[in-house]
Amino acid sequence: MSSPAPNCHSEQRKESLLAGTARMDIRTALKLGIAQLRAARVCSDTLAAELLLLHSTGRTRTSLYSHPEVPLTEAESQTYFGLIEKRAAGIPTQHLTGKQEFWGMEFAVTPDVLIPRPETEHLIEVALDRLALRDLRAKHRQNMTGDGLLLADIGTGSGCIAAALAREFPAAQIFALDISPAALFVARRNAARLGFADRIQFAESNLLSAIPVSQVASHQQPLFDLIVSNPPYIGRREAATLAREVREHEPEIALYGGEEGYELYADLVTQSAAHLKPGGIVVLELGHDSLPAVQPLFDSPEWTNFGVANDLAGILRVLSAERSANGFSRSR
Ligand SMILES: C[S@@+](CC[C@H](N)C(=O)[O-])C[C@H]1O[C@@H](n2cnc3c(N)ncnc32)[C@H](O)[C@@H]1O
Repeated sequence: MSSPAPNCHSEQRKESLLAGTARMDIRTALKLGIAQLRAARVCSDTLAAELLLLHSTGRTRTSLYSHPEVPLTEAESQTYFGLIEKRAAGIPTQHLTGKQEFWGMEFAVTPDVLIPRPETEHLIEVALDRLALRDLRAKHRQNMTGDGLLLADIGTGSGCIAAALAREFPAAQIFALDISPAALFVARRNAARLGFADRIQFAESNLLSAIPVSQVASHQQPLFDLIVSNPPYIGRREAATLAREVREHEPEIALYGGEEGYELYADLVTQSAAHLKPGGIVVLELGHDSLPAVQPLFDSPEWTNFGVANDLAGILRVLSAERSANGFSRSR
């Protein structure tokens, strides 16, 4: 019997490998995926492998763990190990699955938007606390539905903050602004899918510039009860310290605030003061070292009740302040 030609031999090996993976059960696939990601030094390797397996098989997490002996089909295997390879090469899990959860809702994400981060949920918590406190201080009944409230999310990205506010305040009107038309495309689609399209108005805008201050005199300028923003706040000089998947796969416009990182805050604070009602609240996410540069911007009679809250890692992450009545004429 003559031995097979080398080409033929490698084809046979490939086929038997594929056949092997086709019969691979869920438990083994997960173990192999985790090992491959760990070898590539991917952080949260177990979670990433699990999410990619859920995505490739369409199964629920419960069925994954209650029936780990179930074999994958050949197509599932190929999809899963293909995604594991891409994740090992540095592509974020969320770009492979196309989604990320935020405030209990699922958001579509693409390379045009920042992947919503869990720490940004803290911004929503602070905003809700500050509005409730404002009602308490004014001895109003708490406005649970947001009826009559006008809210703004500057730098909306995927629309996650605007949608979280829309969910918390089912009667509020919300402006969601971003300088990136590509991000706004994603945000609009998310809002429509989540059922908020009628209450979130999207606009391309450099900070609040699309909301004309010139209309103030004619009383047509929308004055906000709440302005929330998670602006880009990383310094370009820090770029080399970022994880590769962030630096190479997330949009620069969403990451960098300038050479130092905190450059956008001065305009953001000035414009917020011009667009908030007296008693209106601004809530801003901060970079890990932004506070010393940002806090002095609130040293002005226009602002009162300044506060800073830590995130779970103990980093001073969320700044909030109230627009005082200073500078408002009676006609407003
Ligand atoms: C850090 S991301 C935040 C995205 C989203 N709000 C979140 O929390 O996941 C910053 C967003 O601000 C937008 N942006 C950057 N510069 C801006 C500017 N001058 N005016 C308005 N939006 C801006 C970016 O396009 C990006 O979507």
